[in-house]
Amino acid sequence: MKDNYKYVSDVYNQLMNKVDYKFWAKYLIKLSSLYIKKNSKVLELAAGNCSLAEILSNHFSNYVATDISLSMLKKCKSKSLNKICCDMTLIPFRAKFDLIICAFDSINYLTNKKLVLKLLLEVKEILSDNGIFLFDAALERNSFKHEKFAVKSGQQNSVIFNRQSIYLHSSRIHKNIFEIIYPDGKKVREVHRQKIYPLEFYFEVLDKSELYVVECFNAFTFRDCKPNDLRAQFVVKRKI
Ligand SMILES: C[S@@+](CC[C@H](N)C(=O)[O-])C[C@H]1O[C@@H](n2cnc3c(N)ncnc32)[C@H](O)[C@@H]1O
Repeated sequence: MKDNYKYVSDVYNQLMNKVDYKFWAKYLIKLSSLYIKKNSKVLELAAGNCSLAEILSNHFSNYVATDISLSMLKKCKSKSLNKICCDMTLIPFRAKFDLIICAFDSINYLTNKKLVLKLLLEVKEILSDNGIFLFDAALERNSFKHEKFAVKSGQQNSVIFNRQSIYLHSSRIHKNIFEIIYPDGKKVREVHRQKIYPLEFYFEVLDKSELYVVECFNAFTFRDCKPNDLRAQFVVKRKI
């Protein structure tokens, strides 16, 4: 399994220090409450170090958090939360879930269209008949915004990081290049690549996977998403 966040996991909380996970979780709870019950079975894909999972699992008691990066999952201190290391394009469950979540641009880490289709086909297999799949996707305007604030530095537990953000317009690849320096002087580089698909792509690929879009909101709101918004929040169901 590709531990693609091996080193960034050491500084992730500091890197995300401006992200309000409580607010994010409230939004997802509000959104999901329109479709599913509180005692639903929940699966979170690409849960990272479980910042959202720790909040959401207080609301949904039947909760499984997964991520491809073991280092990220290991940063989660909660002993009671179920955590499984897996690739979201090869989901190792047979049981059905009523709510499947993939949050914070994690779908953008699938850098080719076939992988996105693979994810959706996997989700379809384990989504209960009335269940919903909530995922968000970063759009191009988000990358343009990051171009203006391309450099970020900080430190967490004496581990220093410098991040450079580059958006390659022609390939629509957004690269985050990290240099991480440990207290003993060890210096490592980790590069994260994300693909910024046009908004229409998600509608096309969802259609191919026998899922359909119930809603596509401008993230954190309940108004329809436009192609030039920062991030789209999808609510998806199975075609029965
Ligand atoms: C930007 S982080 C978001 C993490 C978390 N959702 C959050 O809100 O903080 C993206 C996450 O996607 C995970 N990821 C990338 N590709 C993946 C894959 N194929 N399967 C599962 N997780 C993946 C990374 O390991 C990372 O933890």
